[in-house]
Amino acid sequence: MNLKLEGKKALVTGGTRGIGRSIVLALAHSGVNVVTCARGDGEALARELKEIGGDHHVVKADMGDPEDVTRLVEECRTRLGSLDLVVHNAGVISHIPFPELPLAEWHRVVNTNLTGAYLLIQGTLPLLGAGSSIVLIGSRVATIGIPLRAHYTAAKAGLIGLTRSAAKELGPKGIRVNVIAPGPVETEAETPPEVRERYQRMIPLGRLGQADEIAGPVLFLASDLSTFVTGETIHVDGGI
Ligand SMILES: NC(=O)c1ccc[n+]([C@@H]2O[C@H](COP(=O)([O-])OP(=O)(O)OC[C@H]3O[C@@H](n4cnc5c(N)ncnc54)[C@H](OP(=O)(O)O)[C@@H]3O)[C@@H](O)[C@H]2O)c1
Repeated sequence: MNLKLEGKKALVTGGTRGIGRSIVLALAHSGVNVVTCARGDGEALARELKEIGGDHHVVKADMGDPEDVTRLVEECRTRLGSLDLVVHNAGVISHIPFPELPLAEWHRVVNTNLTGAYLLIQGTLPLLGAGSSIVLIGSRVATIGIPLRAHYTAAKAGLIGLTRSAAKELGPKGIRVNVIAPGPVETEAETPPEVRERYQRMIPLGRLGQADEIAGPVLFLASDLSTFVTGETIHVDGGI
């Protein structure tokens, strides 16, 4: 199916590994010009994007640092001029018992996952016009809860509230805002066998998701197939 994304312009945060990398590559293969970022080395992704062709840029930026977010948005303005799609995918997690959760770790996880989304939406607004789409990558656990991840679930649940309100405020400008909430997804990070088996038992489809299966719904939200979808949280979780 031709989603008619050719020539559109996108910013995807955290694009060098895992789900973000799949989103960036799926967009690039669909003819979208992409700016993406990570804190670390993006050379491998930059080489892959060069082979696909298009106007792509991999920028070093930390979504937990407001100055980096400003610089990233400025890169989008100078490189692409405007944006049709903004995807906040960059996210961090840790596993810490709640009574021992340090304030600094709370701030690190909330800053990257939630405050980063607020800064990104606010910063990119001047680049977004009618018909553009904002997608925040949340998590299935946001509305379920999970032990040892109170800071992460709080941040991801915050994305849902942010999306509900931003969709109402930006809807009149023709800008849509949605959350994609993945269940367990296989990435380059190793999944211990006992964790994999537990998830396989919990997920009706009997397996973990693949990163490309999150990129698919992002393409849907970027396309004209979803022009009446906003304020929504789309769970992509194998039915867990
Ligand atoms: N995998 C899952 O099962 C799952 C399930 C539910 C939700 N999610 C969500 O999906 C998103 C992607 O997860 P993933 O598993 O693909 O993660 P991942 O494999 O750890 O990849 C994260 C990507 O984001 C970048 N990143 C991390 N922190 C960043 C920061 N502060 N600033 C800029 N870039 C940053 C990383 O590069 P650098 O490290 O070089 O910065 C990397 O490119 C996250 O929001 C996560 O919470 C994942």
